[in-house]
Amino acid sequence: MDWGLKNRLSRIIKPDTGHTVMLAVDHGYFLGPTRKLEVPRDTITPLIPYADALMLTRGVLRTSVEPTENLPIVLRVSGGTSIIGPSLADEEITTTFEEAIRLNVSAVALSIFVGTEYEKQTLKNLADLVTEGQRYGIPVLAVTAVGKKLEKRDARFLSLCCRIAAELGAHFVKTYYCDDFQKVVESCLVPVVIAGGPKLETFRDALQLAHDAMSQGAVGVDMGRNIWQSEQPVASIRGVRAVVHGGATVDEAMEIYEGEMAKTT
Ligand code: R5P
Repeated sequence: MDWGLKNRLSRIIKPDTGHTVMLAVDHGYFLGPTRKLEVPRDTITPLIPYADALMLTRGVLRTSVEPTENLPIVLRVSGGTSIIGPSLADEEITTTFEEAIRLNVSAVALSIFVGTEYEKQTLKNLADLVTEGQRYGIPVLAVTAVGKKLEKRDARFLSLCCRIAAELGAHFVKTYYCDDFQKVVESCLVPVVIAGGPKLETFRDALQLAHDAMSQGAVGVDMGRNIWQSEQPVASIRGVRAVVHGGATVDEAMEIYEGEMAKTT
């Protein structure tokens, strides 16, 4: 791996633990004003001290994050579809590498839609992005299986998506947790982070998800709604950090979460 590329990736996946807590706030690019992300700056600002990287679009970056923040940016560069359109999978690359460089990002991210009628188009998007990423030393995060039907799939399907992403050159991959998750990680060739998915019933469930993924080889999380739609987002991200970076059990992380909650009530 080239020096610049490795240096940027090391800003996201922290070399001291080999893990990362990425905060995903890119949902608006196809969901519009998602609950609790209506005013992104209000959601993002209190969480910045606890996130290892922010995943977002150029629009939210420019309007809602101060350029003086010293936080690695993972820029979503695919889109062009919406939740009410004919197909979420029909994505194109929406942001150039020139702009990503101007924004001083640490990585770019795009979605791939394996198993849909747009798989070829989105996989070609990935391959082209990797070629440019290699040229400029910017890592590419491939996001697999977004969409209600796809994200519920099993280890066989998610292994297929993640392995294809790695084969096409993705430097790290984001996917969903599933039973037998270690099979997904083992066959992926590059580091895997998990999405949180829609808000789970309790925050303990979100911690359990993070814990199970970490114990089966994930390098971290790229979590959104289970953090910022929770009752106390700062307490939540601190709990997740304890699991991801501190190797805490779910009970230990719950204690940290409840301690933080107690301070604010
Ligand atoms: C989906 O395309 C986005 O990349 C989100 O960033 C992703 O789903 C992670 O957020 P959450 O934890 O809310 O699922």
